Amino acid sequence: MGSIRLDRYLADVHIGSRKQIKEYIREGRVRIGEAVVTRGEEHLDPEQDTVFFDDKKLEYSKQRYIMLNKPAGVVSATKDGLSKTVIGLLKNVPVRGLSPAGRLDKDTEGLLLLTDDGPLIHQLIAPSKKVDKRYEVHLKSALSDEALRRLEEGVEIGDETKTLPARARRLPEDEKGCPVIELIIHEGRFHQIKRMLHAVGNEVVYLKRLSMGPLELDPTLPPGTFRYLSATEITALKDGGGR
Ligand code: URA
Repeated sequence: MGSIRLDRYLADVHIGSRKQIKEYIREGRVRIGEAVVTRGEEHLDPEQDTVFFDDKKLEYSKQRYIMLNKPAGVVSATKDGLSKTVIGLLKNVPVRGLSPAGRLDKDTEGLLLLTDDGPLIHQLIAPSKKVDKRYEVHLKSALSDEALRRLEEGVEIGDETKTLPARARRLPEDEKGCPVIELIIHEGRFHQIKRMLHAVGNEVVYLKRLSMGPLELDPTLPPGTFRYLSATEITALKDGGGR
């Protein structure tokens, strides 16, 4: 791919703002191979050279992988005439080409991955790839053992086929006294969890996605905030997000 400047490389791998990157380089925290480099103008070839930041090897990618803790009230779309979109929450991010990996309903909160890596999106959302999507589901009424078993086996929700087998377990009640379950599904049908609970005679009062494959929602991200994925998270998603 040819050579690029070190400061450009570090910006592409999102280790910090331009100002922070300048400081990191000045402080001698960046190496190309064995050599500490203190000038951002230095050139390197991302395909040939290995770059370290604080002795940690960096993985070069121009693609963007962003974890958003989606708040209620915004839609999981890139454009919407009426409502605020998740893309609108990504302050100071070049958003061209970014799409959410699957949609969360307007009132659902939690983990949403936004990326311009189309094949990864496909790998994460295709039901055939069986990637776990784990949700915290707060309910209107207690769930019987029979209802739990039916959710796990697959239920009729008005589509051509039943839902795929899922996993469900009870969690402690929430602060309002509502029953809570954890539900792991592999598909992403429209309003799927709400329709599954409706099919077993219950109702969802609050829904939050906690993880998608190996990617866990960062508990330090308040709703409405986001961060870039680490190189380790990206590798784990590519390796483990879909079989
Ligand atoms: N199931 C739903 O019903 N809504 C979501 O947002 C996600 C899964």
